[in-house]
Amino acid sequence: MEVAEIFNKMANEYDDIHDLWYAWLFSRLHFIIAREVICRYNPQTVLDVGCGTGFQSFLHSAVGARVVGVDIAEDLIEIAKKKSSSFNLNKEKVLFPVYFDFVDKYNRLIFSLLRERNVGEKYIPPSFQVADARSLPFPNESFDHVNCAGSTLSFIDDHHLALSEIERVLRPSGTFLLEVESRWNIDLLWTVIDAVLRNRLGYGTSLREAMSAIFMPPTEYISVDYPFGNPENPINMKIKLFTVKGLKREFSEFRLKVLKKWTIHSITNLIPSTYLDMTNPPTWLRNLFSFLAKIEERIPISLPGCSIVFLAQKKGE
Ligand SMILES: C[S@@+](CC[C@H](N)C(=O)[O-])C[C@H]1O[C@@H](n2cnc3c(N)ncnc32)[C@H](O)[C@@H]1O
Repeated sequence: MEVAEIFNKMANEYDDIHDLWYAWLFSRLHFIIAREVICRYNPQTVLDVGCGTGFQSFLHSAVGARVVGVDIAEDLIEIAKKKSSSFNLNKEKVLFPVYFDFVDKYNRLIFSLLRERNVGEKYIPPSFQVADARSLPFPNESFDHVNCAGSTLSFIDDHHLALSEIERVLRPSGTFLLEVESRWNIDLLWTVIDAVLRNRLGYGTSLREAMSAIFMPPTEYISVDYPFGNPENPINMKIKLFTVKGLKREFSEFRLKVLKKWTIHSITNLIPSTYLDMTNPPTWLRNLFSFLAKIEERIPISLPGCSIVFLAQKKGE
């Protein structure tokens, strides 16, 4: 199945985040964007590549940036367009419904950061269009900032081409926020344990495959099966897992200098991701997760995690 088709199937449920995995990923990611991009660089023209229903597009437009969101899944773009005309940051509980206490906490943090930039009062509705990241329909050097998050690059076969397009449309000294799936995390070990336990944890990878993911050259990217959709009717798709060193090497081939790096789901991955994907998790799991999440947010260094977040700047000027 084509990537666009898979995401189109998820369109109606995309914003309703009931699982710990995505709730934490987006809470942390949006906090990083508010604090490190919006508050520090205040970009006025933003391109959101692989925007989906526009989570990060709305964050930027809420403080007055002119935002264009592009995605290959036309049904997600339709939803983003509908949200765009009626968007209200206060009412929307920031960007997705609140089912966990930490989402509420992060919403308040994000809101207070954005308030410094006059949140809501300057809102310019983002515009959304269908386009492929590998062939962006914009002139060279036309944006102050490019956002490419929610693992978009992990779904693109020739992601290098997408990176070159991003660099092309970014103005010199412009910034680039990338979030992708990472290869080095505790899930690697969980996958091996799961294979030994005959799929008791739900990863479903063979021992051979699980071991080869560990023993491939350390900076190399790998592709793994990723189940989407509900567990009764999963849709399998390959997803690319990146490495920090590999990405830094690629960035240096373009005129992109990495300024900062974070990881998400490092300590929280002490719980297998297959449990964190569960919708409406039981209380014991929520409590354990909250405990680990508190440790993760307090640790000042970025430990290996399931997501890598890079803030980069284009050289020049
Ligand atoms: C997990 S979603 C993330 C969406 C959004 N950034 C977010 O954080 O919610 C990944 C998105 O990448 C989009 N995508 C995949 N390949 C693409 C491509 N070649 N060009 C543009 N978008 C693409 C998918 O359609 C999907 O909406």
